Amino acid sequence: STVPAGTKLLRPDDAGIAEAAAILRAGGLVAFPTETVYGLGGDATDPAAVAGIYAAKARPSFNPLIAHVHDAAAARIQGVFGDEASRLADAFWPGPLTLVVPASAETRVCDLARAGLPSVALRVPDDDATRALLAAFGRPLAGPSANRSGRVSPTRAAHVLADLDGRIAAVLDGGDTQVGLESTVIACLAGPARLLRPGGITRDRLRAILGYDPAGPETTDAEAPVGPGLLASHYAPNARVRLDVTRVAPGEALLLFGSFLPEGQETARARLNLSPAGNPAEAAARLFGALRELDASGAPTIAVAPIPPDGLGEAIRDRLVRAAAPR
Ligand code: TXA
Ligand code: MG
Repeated sequence: STVPAGTKLLRPDDAGIAEAAAILRAGGLVAFPTETVYGLGGDATDPAAVAGIYAAKARPSFNPLIAHVHDAAAARIQGVFGDEASRLADAFWPGPLTLVVPASAETRVCDLARAGLPSVALRVPDDDATRALLAAFGRPLAGPSANRSGRVSPTRAAHVLADLDGRIAAVLDGGDTQVGLESTVIACLAGPARLLRPGGITRDRLRAILGYDPAGPETTDAEAPVGPGLLASHYAPNARVRLDVTRVAPGEALLLFGSFLPEGQETARARLNLSPAGNPAEAAARLFGALRELDASGAPTIAVAPIPPDGLGEAIRDRLVRAAAPR
């Protein structure tokens, strides 16, 4: 077996990128930085490598993976781009947008990575080291977030190791991610575009390109999942999560936003403010790290102050609602 004893940290320089590409070519797994969260990378054309991704994450294999590619030209080999998909790719790639389009006849993204679907999810990430890796590797890179299935997504290499040390060959260490929560997933299949997951590209920015507000995301329950990113319970810390809290119970950890202070806040066991200035982009960048940190306080519950749904607030609230969902 090729299961590594310990996971190697690779620097994002020429040597580190060459080593990462060699591991991927040999069918191994390498976590990689993106502007959103770290991905758990494996060769999307190799069913054995993709099976290794599902196993390392303990992810159900009915949930398809995103294929990361170097640029839009590489994406067009794997998927069929209509007018709307083309406009969205032009506007937002490289960047935190994933396009679900019909798979091309010649796609090399294997059935297992697509969970048997006739569509394929494609993304050009905005990270220099990872784009150099994609250029060196030369194949689509399957990459779910590099966390155990259902857990909080990683925004730095140490988070990846906390979940996956010894289960993957290496992590390409690109430091802290910029956006802090996952890409927006939008389906451009038959009919109007549909928003599958809110993320780093806000609804306003999609509307500006599409000329209309895309429908979705559909709320699903745990019994009828479209995929783990869409499961009711996801992004879960060990602590329970309580939302829109205006009164803190003694011993709870407290996650704040802006200047609002809930009643009883002085009794909180630990506290963090996602953005004292009330800036949603700053809050998104800190969200997952803050959940991990408050979890480490040992508090049984994380109480979250209200966060407005505007702009990136939609994606922040989506993640928090899933973190708070019954498990
Ligand atoms: O920012 C991101 O998107 C990160 C970084 C690493 O790129 N990746 C990520 O992957 O969040 P993952 O696997 O955690 O989420 C991918 C989402 C899932 O909700 C999955 O169900 C959906 O995309 N998806 C993938 N292929 C799909 C398809 N063909 N049809 C519908 N949904 C699809
Ligand atoms: Mg994920």
